[in-house]
Amino acid sequence: MRSKLETLTSLLLAGQACAKINRQKIVQQFNPHRTASSDSTPLQVGNGDFAFGADVTGLQTFQPFNTLSTWCWHNSSLPTAPNQTEPADFVGLDWWTHGRLVNYEQPNPAKPDISQWMISNPHRANLGRVGLWFGDNITESDVSATQQELDLYSGTITSSFKWGGEHVQISTYGDPATSSIAVEVSSALLQDGYLGVFFDYPYMNDLNKFEAPFVGLYNATANHTTRMVSGDHHQACIEHTMDATTYYTTVHWNQDASLTGPLPHSHRYVLKPHGDEHLTLTVSYHDTPSPREASFYSPGGQGARINTDFEQITTASAAYWEDFWETGAFVDMTKSGNTSAMELQRRVILSQYLEAVNEAGFDPPQESGLVNNGWYGKFHAEMFLWHLGHWGRWGQWGLQNRAMPGVYERFLPTSIERAKRQGYEGARWGKMSDPTGRSAPGEINSLLIWQQPHPMQFAEYEWRAFPNDATLQKWDEVLYETAAWMADYAYCNESTGVYDLGPPIYPVSENTDPNATFNAAFELAYWRFGLDTASQWQKRQGKPVPAKWTHVAENLAPLPVADETYVIYEGIDDMWHNTTYTTDHQSMLGIYGWLPPQPDFNLTIMQNTVEHVYSTWNFTDSYGWDFPLLTMNAARLGEVDRAVDWLLDSTFEFDDAGYQVGGARVPTPYMPGAASLLWAVAMLASGWDGHEGSHFPSSWNVEVEGFLPAM
Ligand SMILES: *[C@@H]1O[C@H](CO)[C@@H](O)[C@H](O)[C@H]1NC(C)=O
Ligand SMILES: *[C@@H]1O[C@H](CO)[C@@H](O)[C@H](O)[C@H]1NC(C)=O
Ligand SMILES: *[C@@H]1O[C@H](CO)[C@@H](O)[C@H](O)[C@H]1NC(C)=O
Ligand SMILES: *[C@@H]1O[C@H](CO)[C@@H](O)[C@H](O)[C@H]1NC(C)=O
Ligand SMILES: *[C@@H]1O[C@H](CO)[C@@H](O)[C@H](O)[C@H]1NC(C)=O
Ligand SMILES: *[C@@H]1O[C@H](CO)[C@@H](O)[C@H](O)[C@H]1NC(C)=O
Ligand SMILES: *[C@@H]1O[C@H](CO)[C@@H](O)[C@H](O)[C@H]1NC(C)=O
Ligand SMILES: *[C@@H]1O[C@H](CO)[C@@H](O)[C@H](O)[C@H]1NC(C)=O
Ligand SMILES: *[C@@H]1O[C@H](CO)[C@@H](O)[C@H](O)[C@H]1NC(C)=O
Ligand SMILES: *[C@@H]1O[C@H](CO)[C@@H](O)[C@H](O)[C@H]1NC(C)=O
Ligand SMILES: *[C@@H]1O[C@H](CO)[C@@H](O)[C@H](O)[C@H]1NC(C)=O
Repeated sequence: MRSKLETLTSLLLAGQACAKINRQKIVQQFNPHRTASSDSTPLQVGNGDFAFGADVTGLQTFQPFNTLSTWCWHNSSLPTAPNQTEPADFVGLDWWTHGRLVNYEQPNPAKPDISQWMISNPHRANLGRVGLWFGDNITESDVSATQQELDLYSGTITSSFKWGGEHVQISTYGDPATSSIAVEVSSALLQDGYLGVFFDYPYMNDLNKFEAPFVGLYNATANHTTRMVSGDHHQACIEHTMDATTYYTTVHWNQDASLTGPLPHSHRYVLKPHGDEHLTLTVSYHDTPSPREASFYSPGGQGARINTDFEQITTASAAYWEDFWETGAFVDMTKSGNTSAMELQRRVILSQYLEAVNEAGFDPPQESGLVNNGWYGKFHAEMFLWHLGHWGRWGQWGLQNRAMPGVYERFLPTSIERAKRQGYEGARWGKMSDPTGRSAPGEINSLLIWQQPHPMQFAEYEWRAFPNDATLQKWDEVLYETAAWMADYAYCNESTGVYDLGPPIYPVSENTDPNATFNAAFELAYWRFGLDTASQWQKRQGKPVPAKWTHVAENLAPLPVADETYVIYEGIDDMWHNTTYTTDHQSMLGIYGWLPPQPDFNLTIMQNTVEHVYSTWNFTDSYGWDFPLLTMNAARLGEVDRAVDWLLDSTFEFDDAGYQVGGARVPTPYMPGAASLLWAVAMLASGWDGHEGSHFPSSWNVEVEGFLPAM
């Protein structure tokens, strides 16, 4: 095994050394162009920890798109009298679990205020708005000849329009290293005092689970404060305080200009240039009053660093994006000109860019990346793999390693504590998290279990790329504690002699009665995979495999079968005739596609299951990663055309700038849709163990480089 993988790795490296696809040409072919602002999505620049969403002016002039980061969060005030409470008062609920009461982090009807507060706090803060100031109230319909292009290969947005007979041109760049943008504005209007740049600040509250497309309130000016804390001829710093959250904006400009504000009854500041046709500026957000100037990315603490050097940012941005595109794997589907292939290529290229802008930070991303807020800006542990696992599959380990396994290491103590409180060994990972690792109270949140084996899948893919001691050590403790919980959690059923998972659990599809649900198909297969991987990890290090892990893995309940099909969970009542069940994630198909087949897998039963899914499922209700999941299943079953069709399904939409449209179920964008598309394309590009090689339609004449096969 090891030598085979080493061979593959060296082939991969050799492939990279002589990369022959003209990546730049393919990438730039898909540069988004706009002539008007979208009312749902921006164009963005950013670095995975910070992103700036622009309207058609390249700034946030007409549409207040958002500026989000991994580091800036806000708490609303704690519940006050008569129900004055604090997080320490939260107690959750006890549910019967195999004959004993186990406490789950669920909203407690006796303590509704603190339960809700803990769900909606902290929430991710929108850092602010930067727009063109016109010295007049104008709207987008007042400007003409509007043109905009995002050059994906250099990470630059260029925008232009005419106003009052004069041209205005704006270039917008994101700093790869800090939460900063660089902006260049050119127009004769700058000379005459008709054009400047404004800065504004919204207030955050905890009332909305989803804030899309715009985050925060610009009209609650009395609830927060801003002030200019320093300023000279070329730089000013604005302090913004919302309750306990304080952060800063350092604006630096190179020409003769002055920054003043706030304007009356607002938090709006204006930078007005004097006498020059060009204005070059940088805008840096930070949470420390004295940040360090920095030009290199390092994970964590991005709020402590700024970059005020316009030239440096523009140069660094171009270099960063070129390196991004020339690193790792690539797929060229453009050769045949087949329209489906071209559309899939578009989705892939734009997803690669948007994932790098929104989903490559120190903390895992929320479902909407850094575009807008969903679930209060928090991130979901069962989604870590969908959001981030494609980086490794595409050989972009630098980006994956920013969060992995760091987030597991940071959340390990609270996860061990969670398991202990519930009477288990090891670490039980939480669900809907903020950067402290606290899992938001929730019935589903506390009873999902499919996030648990994710570390094993991250680790195993890393091992396949880097089969060495450093990889083993890196994941050792996380895998050990995860497996310890998984083995201890499985319940030895005396009457059947097998280990059961649940009840109570929520399966992947979250649509069954948790007290009745046990031995869910996907979860059982994933438990087997996870425990076997953790055992391998021990063996590779010459360490003993805990007997309990082996015993549980080999005696897990069999995959649930009814009518010769795999069903959501054991004993589910007539699932194929009940529309409650034939909707949502097609989790049973995940055991043969996304996951490699586990020892008790039966292909005939899978084929029956697929037929039942295809004939009964409400695909109109499917969303996001459902389609790539179907692709991976179809690919493993040898259905090449069907595999690519799922990625182009009419319900699986990507807008003109590549944002995956949320559809009936979730707001736009739904970033796991893009991330899972990349995962599925990696599988089509590389095949899987025993079936290595490209699995695209042969007439597409697809060329790939730099992929390792899937498991
Ligand atoms: C919000 O409050 C919680 C609980 O008191 C605390 O742990 C967290 O650090 C706070 N976060 C922010 C951004 O203030
Ligand atoms: C205080 O809590 C009780 C339940 O304990 C709830 O009925 C009531 O609505 C709460 N009051 C406020 C002001 O939130
Ligand atoms: C599950 O059982 C617990 C008692 O163990 C009960 O409190 C809870 O309401 C039940 N949940 C559902 C969804 O029936
Ligand atoms: C712009 O609009 C705002 C709000 O509608 C108003 O208060 C302000 O006076 C207007 N300014 C100009 C220059 O018309
Ligand atoms: C503030 O703006 C929000 C939308 O941005 C609106 O729903 C709300 O009514 C406004 N509040 C006031 C007091 O104007
Ligand atoms: C602003 O503060 C006031 C007074 O505390 C409060 O009633 C109001 O709800 C707050 N507004 C927002 C948008 O949170
Ligand atoms: C043991 O398994 C059987 C069949 O799967 C199930 O009906 C029963 O409830 C389980 N026993 C316990 C104590 O969970
Ligand atoms: C479908 O399943 C739900 C949830 O278990 C149940 O409430 C409902 O009665 C079932 N419908 C039919 C037609 O059996
Ligand atoms: C797979 O399931 C089918 C249908 O139940 C059965 O006939 C067959 O024997 C099973 N195959 C194996 C290898 O168990
Ligand atoms: C299928 O899902 C769509 C979208 O959620 C919904 O509107 C429709 O009613 C569902 N159809 C059935 C038969 O349940
Ligand atoms: C494009 O490729 C798909 C998938 O192989 C195929 O079904 C379709 O016929 C092709 N279209 C054309 C115009 O060749």
